[in-house]
Amino acid sequence: MKNLEIFKESEKYMPGGVNSPVRCFKGLNFNPPIIKSGKGVIIKDEDDNEYIDFVLAWGPLILGHCDEDVVKAVQETSSKALAFGAPTKLELDLGKFMCENLDNVDMIRMVNSGTEATMSAVKLARGYTKRDKIVKFAGCYHGHFDGFLIEAGSGVMTNGIPGSLGVPTGSIENTLIGQYNDKKQIIELFEKYGNEIAGVIIEPVAGNMGVIKAEEDFMETLRELCDKYGALLIFDEVMNGFRVAFKGAQSLFNVNPDLITYAKIMGGGLPCGAYAGKREVMENLAPVGGVYQAGTMSGNPIVMAAGLATLTKLKNNLEYYDHIEKMGRKLEEGVCEISKKYNLPAVMNRVGGMLTVFFTDLKEVKTYDDVKTCNVKRFNRYFEHMLKSGINLAPSQFEAVFLSVKHEEKHIDAYLKAFEEFAAKEIHC
Ligand SMILES: Cc1ncc(COP(=O)(O)O)c(C=O)c1O
Repeated sequence: MKNLEIFKESEKYMPGGVNSPVRCFKGLNFNPPIIKSGKGVIIKDEDDNEYIDFVLAWGPLILGHCDEDVVKAVQETSSKALAFGAPTKLELDLGKFMCENLDNVDMIRMVNSGTEATMSAVKLARGYTKRDKIVKFAGCYHGHFDGFLIEAGSGVMTNGIPGSLGVPTGSIENTLIGQYNDKKQIIELFEKYGNEIAGVIIEPVAGNMGVIKAEEDFMETLRELCDKYGALLIFDEVMNGFRVAFKGAQSLFNVNPDLITYAKIMGGGLPCGAYAGKREVMENLAPVGGVYQAGTMSGNPIVMAAGLATLTKLKNNLEYYDHIEKMGRKLEEGVCEISKKYNLPAVMNRVGGMLTVFFTDLKEVKTYDDVKTCNVKRFNRYFEHMLKSGINLAPSQFEAVFLSVKHEEKHIDAYLKAFEEFAAKEIHC
C-alpha cells in the first residue's frame, strides 16, 4: 500500500486517520506522508520518498532515529523483560541517574506520557498545598489534561480551538490564565488569588506556541510570588529536558523549581514521562503520603532501558550539545540572511536545538499576542514547499523545529537551499 491509500484507509478506522491530531495536515490541502522507517536524520515514507527530519518524533530523538545504543538496549531488555508491574533494577538505574544528574531533583516518579506527568504534578501540588487553583500560561501546552485545555498551544492553537469540548466547567474553574513574559499581569493575578494558588506551571522555554524563551526577571518574579504566597513553581520540561541543555531549561535560569516534569528525550523514543522534585514535596505521594497516583506500565523495563541508554550517551558526550548549538546557529544565521536578502518578514527564535521561524512583520516575538500576528497562510506555503523539497517539519507555525546530534552541515545546507527557493517564490506571490 502507498501513502495515499494507507491514509484513506486509516480515515475509515481512526478519527482523522491519526492517533494524535497534530499529525493530520489540517488546514493544508494535502495528506501526511506515511512514515515507515528512520535512521539518523533520514526518514522514509511508504512511497519511498526520503526526508531530512526536523521533527524527531516531536522532540525525543536527540540522538537521531534508531540510535544503535538505544536499539541495543531495547533489544537486550525486551528478550528478558517486557513488563512485570513489579519493581525492577532498571527503574532504580534511571531514577537514580536523573536524581544525581539534575538539579532540584531529590525524588522522581515514572509515568507513561508528558500529559500524565503534568497532570500528576499538579495533583501533587494541590495535595501538598491543600489549595485548588493552578496558573498556566496562554500558549503553553501541558498535554490534554482537562484543566489545561484552555488557551493551550500546539495542536489546540493550530486547529483554532479555544478549548476542548467534553471539558466540564468544573474542571477549568480552578485554572487561572497567565500571560507569558508579562510580569505586571502575573503580579495582579497573585494579588487577587494568591492565597488560593497551589502552583504555577510553565514551559521555561515555550515550544508549543513556537519557541519563546521566558525572560529571566519574569521567571524570578514567578519564584518570588510562589514563595510569598506559598505556591509551588512547576517547570514543565517535557520538551526542554535534556534538549536546551543536558540539565534542561532550569540550568538556563537563576531560578529553582519545586517540581519538574519530564518526558520525550528521557524515554529515548518510547512512551514515557516522569515528575520529580524536592523530597519534602514528593513524599506526599502514595504510598508514603496521601496523594494517589498509579500506573500499570509506569517504569516499564524497556522504556527505562531506552531512557537510560539515551541519557547515559548524552552525559558521556556533552560535546553533542556544542554540535547541536553549532548546527542551530548555522541554520539561524542562514534563515536570517535569506529573509533579509528577499525582504521576507520573519523572526527567528532559537534556544539550542529548538527553534521557530515566525512569519510576522514584528521585529521580535516574546509573547503569545506576538505569536498571533503570524501569517499562517505563508507558513502553510512554506511547509508545503519544504516537505516537497525533502525537509520534514512540524505542520504548524506554532511548533518547534528540532535538531539532533546526527544533523550535519549538509542537512542544514539542504534546509537553507529549500528555504531560499521558498523565499524567492514568496516575494513574487
Ligand atoms: C511542554 C509539554 N508538556 C506536556 C506535553 C504532553 O506530552 P505527551 O504528548 O507525552 O502527553 C507536551 C507534548 O508535546 C509538551 O510539549
